[in-house]
Amino acid sequence: MEFQYEWVKDPTVFQVNRIPAHADLEIFKDKKKTVSYRHFLDGQWQFYFAKNYLEVPKGFEKPEYQCTGWNLIQVPGHIQLQGYDCPQYVNTMYPWDGHEEIEPGSIPEEFNPVGCYVKYIECHKLEEDSPVRIVFEGVESAVALWVNGNFVGYCEGSFTPAEFDITEYLLEGQNKLAVEVFKWCTGSWLEDQDFWRFSGIFRSVYLYGIPKVHIEDLFVRTYLDDSFNKARVKIELSVRGEEDNKIQLALFDENGNMVFEEHLVARTQIVEKEVLNPKLWSAEIPTLYRMLIQAYNAEDELIEVVEKKIGFRRFEIKDSIMLLNGKRIEFNGVNRHEFGARNGRTITKEMMLYDIQTMKRLNINAVRTSHYPNQSYFYDLCDEYGLYVIDETNLETHGTWFTRGDEPEHPMILPSNRSDYRDAVLDRASDMFERDKNHACILFWSCGNESFGGKTLYEMSNYFRKMDDTRLVHYEGISCDNRYPETSDVVSRMYWSADAIEEYIKVNPEKPFISCEYSHAMGNSNGGISKYTELMHREPRYQGGFIWDFVDQAIFARNCFGEEYLAYGGDFLDRPNDGTFSGNGILFADRTLTPKAAEVKYVYQPLGISVGKDTFTVVNRHLFLSTKPYQCFVHLLENGVEIGTKEVEAVLEPQETRIFQIPYNLEQLNQENEYVVTVSFILRESCPWQTAGAEIAFGQFRRKATCNPWLKESDRGELNFVHGMSNVGVKGADFHIIFSKNLGGMISYNKEGRELLLEAVRPNFFRAPVDNDLGYGLPKKAAFWKTASLYQTGKLKECKMRDNHAYIRYGYEAPGFEEEVCTVEYEVFESGAVRVTLDYPGYKQLPIIPEMAIMLQLPKEYDTVRWYGRGPEENYMDRNMGCKIGVYENLVGDNLTPYLNPQECGNHTEVSMAKVVNPDGYGCIFIGEDMNVSVLPYTPEVLEEANHQYELPRSNRTVIRLSNYQIGVAGNDSWGAMPLREYYKEGHEPIRFSFYLQGI
Ligand code: GAL
Ligand code: MG
Repeated sequence: MEFQYEWVKDPTVFQVNRIPAHADLEIFKDKKKTVSYRHFLDGQWQFYFAKNYLEVPKGFEKPEYQCTGWNLIQVPGHIQLQGYDCPQYVNTMYPWDGHEEIEPGSIPEEFNPVGCYVKYIECHKLEEDSPVRIVFEGVESAVALWVNGNFVGYCEGSFTPAEFDITEYLLEGQNKLAVEVFKWCTGSWLEDQDFWRFSGIFRSVYLYGIPKVHIEDLFVRTYLDDSFNKARVKIELSVRGEEDNKIQLALFDENGNMVFEEHLVARTQIVEKEVLNPKLWSAEIPTLYRMLIQAYNAEDELIEVVEKKIGFRRFEIKDSIMLLNGKRIEFNGVNRHEFGARNGRTITKEMMLYDIQTMKRLNINAVRTSHYPNQSYFYDLCDEYGLYVIDETNLETHGTWFTRGDEPEHPMILPSNRSDYRDAVLDRASDMFERDKNHACILFWSCGNESFGGKTLYEMSNYFRKMDDTRLVHYEGISCDNRYPETSDVVSRMYWSADAIEEYIKVNPEKPFISCEYSHAMGNSNGGISKYTELMHREPRYQGGFIWDFVDQAIFARNCFGEEYLAYGGDFLDRPNDGTFSGNGILFADRTLTPKAAEVKYVYQPLGISVGKDTFTVVNRHLFLSTKPYQCFVHLLENGVEIGTKEVEAVLEPQETRIFQIPYNLEQLNQENEYVVTVSFILRESCPWQTAGAEIAFGQFRRKATCNPWLKESDRGELNFVHGMSNVGVKGADFHIIFSKNLGGMISYNKEGRELLLEAVRPNFFRAPVDNDLGYGLPKKAAFWKTASLYQTGKLKECKMRDNHAYIRYGYEAPGFEEEVCTVEYEVFESGAVRVTLDYPGYKQLPIIPEMAIMLQLPKEYDTVRWYGRGPEENYMDRNMGCKIGVYENLVGDNLTPYLNPQECGNHTEVSMAKVVNPDGYGCIFIGEDMNVSVLPYTPEVLEEANHQYELPRSNRTVIRLSNYQIGVAGNDSWGAMPLREYYKEGHEPIRFSFYLQGI
């Protein structure tokens, strides 16, 4: 048979000569599993880049063709990250949109890169009747293979293996493997996931020889009875072998003790065994058993060893509630794209392990493999470390329907009821199911993402049900086309607000509800996320969700200055593109934690801890794990300084709630100091994903002082006014302040000869938009507040001695508004303390308010910040629970969170005291109640202007913004969702805010 290019263009042909999908079983020659039958071909291959099929060198697959002048390419790897073509980031639109006018069922042909790969391999001792196969674990998006010039096979579907038998073409000695990889095939219409568009052999390639007795396939399922003490193990074996070959099958528990053993003849069969008192698998206690299968030939020689880890668990829906091992399960989940900033979707085992450990550390217990099957090793790790998995079929057709969602029968919509794509779509489901079916961690088969509804998807869901009665079927797309509501066993939605979910489940009690995507973590986001977890704890049928998503998808590249930076859509001159829209991670692209991760860790903590002044209550939300692995400490802080730590014996059984006494008597403590009680559960012993001593969960109680403890007024000397033409000075014993009549504010604060101010102090009403602000149009809605910040005029209205202080008042006007927007009052005391009060009376004609702050600008030398409030990570009024009250110190530059697109960042809430000092300790102190304190090297307008971190200019200043109101960061989605109502203020709402500042 010859390869036909027509196949690439024909949706009904998605594979030719491929070996049917089966379980991913690594086979070994020896019991110790040191000699694998796998022989990896990863490494350098010869490579030729053709921009379309016409440019493929004719006959390059033939043995006589010399690949002279070809380059080398790394396998696995993407072509676009190795100097050819360019990475392109698009969300819903197809990458060829605007380039080539094509419809589903055809493909781009002018530009459709074909990667031509050649690899020479040596073969020795080829045995007769011992087949050799080649496995491509992932090739995007279609692969054709030749061996020694003979066509072998063809396969589409980028995220599941393409496996071929190459025995008949192999020769002793040197062999030539030739591969064509098409960037786009008809299958590409099914791969419109919101991600970087690449092509190439991006996962490993290996050969393996099939021994004479061989386990072709294995499907192990466990069934538990209602007591959960008795299990039935059902083992389906697909075997190649002769009748006199033997199979030895054994199961070992976690301690290596044999549970059962069976001696079988080598043939395809089903074995059922009973196991008493099995230790159950869950994400909390991921107990795995080891199934060992050994195949012997007639001479009793060991031929093949296969090992598979299995877990005993039961997952089901009962009375509209999902139960794991009989208990109502809650998903504290996250979506994860398989992606790294250096090698795209070619990721290493180390990176997978890092991700899994990071998830566990962040109290994440579930992951959705958005939106395609991941590498097998990832599921091994989920089995082992304990993570619940939604395994998702490689299917997304978003671009075919998102503008035609109201016409379900539209012929352009895929897969819908289109017959030409039916088989290809169903094949994707079976490719995933067959490869992954033995993993205990997988609780759901997902029919894909955003692929609308229709018959084919419904068929797919029934396929999963028919094949597997130990998991549920998940599909969200029917929320856009509900012709086949039974496609999903659970109601799954994306980006609904917690309120909307609550409303829905009240009137739709039939199925449990999960958010397959929620809290869109784009840029500075995840505001209000606690509403969802609170709902989950309150409402049995809301069983949690999966944050979108785990890690920013951005790529390390070089800018025009030769510096490395993180590039996003458009930076490679990729057209069309969707900009930063793939930067939605709770981890940055370099995999360091964003500040959002602290909030995620907090709302996902397995222990609910609420602390009052006398007692604290702990809810152990674990279903199977007691709190024995943790130690409970109660810390007492006085004005931020720890003055005591006591351990409390707190062993709670799974799902137990208990009240404990706080081992301190707060009543007896000094009323003039502020006290914070922190209850903290830490890990007693190191475990595979965390070291001993790490915190798992905490709760805090704050007892404020009768007045701010940092406010120590010491009046000394006297105050004098200096009245000038343009300025008013106020002189004290060791300070001198100047208020300008022309520049509209305080322009000088001089303490013992040190000038603190670089610019006039002024009110500020806006912020560099966070991605979510852009999503719901805040910059446009609140444009007034930006011009009011930049083009205000401040007029000195009053200036007099009042009681023991000098009183100065400014009124502020802004472009396009008749009235005085706000006033700022200064009360200067003899100590040099200045009480600043910002008063905004509220105007209903004015729009929603981003911020109401006082902004000071200091020379850059004031580069250190020390504060008492929430930290250490940045936090906002709708995202601050994961940040503890305490005393923190950092450098001004540390507050510049490196979001892909510079935006508002670095704020701290509930601050009572902040100091900004130079290396000698001189500077300024700010004292107030529940302040937002932001200390950055930039003003909001400079931050807003830059589109990448490297575009930010050198800074000569420290910009301090103090307020008691800055709008929440929002995050229910990034394309329209405002912050929740309690986290923003409309123009009509008055705001009054005071704080003290003083030179130190
Ligand atoms: C969802 C989609 C994700 C991603 C997200 C926006 O609709 O399923 O793949 O595109 O929106 O970041
Ligand atoms: Mg999409």
